[in-house]
Amino acid sequence: MRTDTGQVFKLEDYRPSDYLIPETNLEFRLSPQATIVIATLTVERRHGVAVSAPLVLDGDGLSLKRVEIDGKKVKPSDLTASPDQLTLLKPPSAHRFHLLVETELAPDGNEALMGLYRSNNVYCTQCEAEGFRRITYFLDRPDILSVYTVRIEAPRHEAPLLLSNGNPVDKGDLGDGWHYSVWHDPFPKPSYLFALVAGNLGRVADSFVTMSGRKVELGIYVEPGKETLAGYAMDALKRSMRWDEEAFGREYDLDVFNIVAVSDFNMGAMENKGLNIFNDKYVLADRETATDADFANIEAIIAHEYFHNWTGNRITCRDWFQLCLKEGLTVFRDHEFSADQRSRGVKRIAEVRTLRAHQFPEDQGPLAHPVRPRRYREINNFYTATVYEKGSEVVRMIRTIVGTEAFRAGMDLYFERHDGEAATIEDFIKVFEDASGRDLSQFALWYHQAGTPNLSISSSHNPAAREFTLEIEQSVPPTPSESRKRLMHIPLAFGLIGAGGKPVEYGDVDGASVEDGVIHVRKRRHVVRFSGIAERPAVSLNRGFSAPVTLSVEQKADDQFFLARHDGDAFSRWQAFNTLLTDALIAAFRDILGGKQPAFPERLIELAGTIASDETLEPAYRALALSLPGEADIARDIGRNIDPDAIHAARQALALAIARACRDAFARLYGQLVDTGGFSPDAASAGRRALRNGLLEYLSLLPGGAALAAEHFRSATNMTDRAAALSVLAHRHHGSSEAIEALAAFEQTYANDPLVMDKWFLIQASVPGPQAVDTVRALTAHRAFSMGNPNRVRSLIGTFSSANQTGFHRPDGEAYRFFVQTVLEVEKRNPQVAARLATALRSWRSLEPGRQAKAREALLSIANAENLSADLRDIVERTLA
Ligand code: TRP
Ligand code: ZN
Repeated sequence: MRTDTGQVFKLEDYRPSDYLIPETNLEFRLSPQATIVIATLTVERRHGVAVSAPLVLDGDGLSLKRVEIDGKKVKPSDLTASPDQLTLLKPPSAHRFHLLVETELAPDGNEALMGLYRSNNVYCTQCEAEGFRRITYFLDRPDILSVYTVRIEAPRHEAPLLLSNGNPVDKGDLGDGWHYSVWHDPFPKPSYLFALVAGNLGRVADSFVTMSGRKVELGIYVEPGKETLAGYAMDALKRSMRWDEEAFGREYDLDVFNIVAVSDFNMGAMENKGLNIFNDKYVLADRETATDADFANIEAIIAHEYFHNWTGNRITCRDWFQLCLKEGLTVFRDHEFSADQRSRGVKRIAEVRTLRAHQFPEDQGPLAHPVRPRRYREINNFYTATVYEKGSEVVRMIRTIVGTEAFRAGMDLYFERHDGEAATIEDFIKVFEDASGRDLSQFALWYHQAGTPNLSISSSHNPAAREFTLEIEQSVPPTPSESRKRLMHIPLAFGLIGAGGKPVEYGDVDGASVEDGVIHVRKRRHVVRFSGIAERPAVSLNRGFSAPVTLSVEQKADDQFFLARHDGDAFSRWQAFNTLLTDALIAAFRDILGGKQPAFPERLIELAGTIASDETLEPAYRALALSLPGEADIARDIGRNIDPDAIHAARQALALAIARACRDAFARLYGQLVDTGGFSPDAASAGRRALRNGLLEYLSLLPGGAALAAEHFRSATNMTDRAAALSVLAHRHHGSSEAIEALAAFEQTYANDPLVMDKWFLIQASVPGPQAVDTVRALTAHRAFSMGNPNRVRSLIGTFSSANQTGFHRPDGEAYRFFVQTVLEVEKRNPQVAARLATALRSWRSLEPGRQAKAREALLSIANAENLSADLRDIVERTLA
């Protein structure tokens, strides 16, 4: 493990490298403990660079065997070498030369899962962001584009399959049971996109004919015996390839496209050119083992990695500060894909819920950073919800501002202008300015300024003047190292709604530019006057969540109820009801703290029943509306002095009140939605399951609830229903015989399926209450658990620390102590996963004083541990700062 050097990397320090590497030849002789890597690099001095300039190559923990230039051994006095750097002090004076570097690696001992490692005896690589330097010395930065040829040699019985990027060009036998294959990738690429896979894997084959009529061979490789579980991923891949042609005019460019599923992986998946490597959780699925959420994630991530071929690979990033150039844009593209494949309205609500659950707390806490950061100590820690999800929202706002047509023209221009380049955010913004003729300089602040902007809005109506007025004021709260903020350009979509839910026509508008239902907020304060309005309308704000902001709206409850029934924008209608629920929960929270019994508005409870049975609404939408704001969502809206137990009690009380009042309607509907045995993972079927399982949650709170959930569990014919019932039993009927039996039955059935056991871990890790820490601690000793596998760690420890508010924030601090110990244990093997876990404490300052002090102690004890990795130190120090 590399310990922290304390070095800070700054955007303004960027300068082009002195040398280029137009060609890279790699030769691998694979062996678990002693893999030989021979890299032959064609090196060119950049024009204008002095002949005396040393060539400084990055390494990370490397063991150097040999260095030659143009076939001759380099004199020891002409180089300095350490595990982390190789410097040629006197490179040849020729403009171009060949450098050979031989290194030796031990993939078996590589538990950080960066560079070359083995997962279930399969050799695989992960090079983003800086993993290539763990394979060979290189200019390991994304603006060094090189054409790669890769030769892999291995024993045939251990590794019958040998894959790398690009197209296969040669293969053959080497005698002694060894064989080789050679791959060539004609597209120059940065080192972070290099990949190699070797092992014994099962293959699912298909093909795709591109829009210009070229045939592409598709392969998905999985653990032998699991081939039947890759069908949905293959289908999603072909749909993604077609969609990118239709929506963006982007065609695939190699003869083959391969996907490999591995079981030890730090993130979701990786877009290596022509050879995507996936966490197997995002490939393998069937009705028996995967939930509808799993199917949706597989579809989205297969699409995401495929779309990177153009946004990330053909056009890559100049440096890691530009990460959102590929990630925000590619998330936007996968969101649009899923919206087209599923229900656009429902998809948008789900996206916003994710953004609020993950990005808002980041933006509002100590780890806040701009979508394009200006400094970092460890780039691995910047693969964040801000870069990905807010980055996607920024692209969506560009489309809102310039319009659909100019947006597409801008994207076309981006591909035309920057194909084959390593680009910047400035390049990206410029194509939309050029395509639309608009000035996006104020808008660009969305990339540069951290924090969630707030819009404070009030309205008034003057019947005599037939005038409706909106007063809008923007503010951006201070964030770490940015105390003063500049005014943003915020596109606020809105609608004025009259009696019966009809849109209200208006005449002239004064006070802000308003185009196609969007108010362009640019100043601190706007007073927007709409003329020709006889009756006071209800106003629907931030429709479709047009801007990632918070709203402080002075709005009558009557209007909110009206919007929750009549808003024509699916997102805003959902939002109106969700706001009512949140307000009621916060009031109940205060009641509970004040020792009072919480009470809820009758018409709110009634509305829940009405929405559930409204046949004009999609089942998936109804399910989303009925799922109460999460405990963390409520905590965020309360803001400070958080007592998670009181929030939990408030949420339970509202759920019970809804269940009691709506019992008959819910029971009837639950019966109507009964599973008839057929299964399809499509969005409409998933929506019906989501609604039925949502109803089960309520019904399970009533007398006979445990028996109902147990029957739901027993009769389930798919994992969505089975896991939903198990979760209801474990959470709402903790300790009951029904819960104990179901957990045991599930464990027995799936003991040998690690991905399904992850669900079993997750469900138990999220059972609320003070006993949770003991449960989780005991489960770390379960035979299906492993501290070395990121999926296991995230399911058990990650879920407990980031999704179990009452359990993790136990008032005596016991869960924090367990957490510190576990994070440090994980860190010894895998610093990247440990650092991600540690972000669970980022909102510590909003806790009530007792818990706050204990959380701080926990953070300090991590900070004071010896030999901390750069990854963990960076997170902990920023969290404490
Ligand atoms: N580029 C990948 C994606 O979003 C992310 C990724 C996969 C990654 N593995 C990683 C980032 C390891 C950092 C480290 O599609
Ligand atoms: Zn990505």
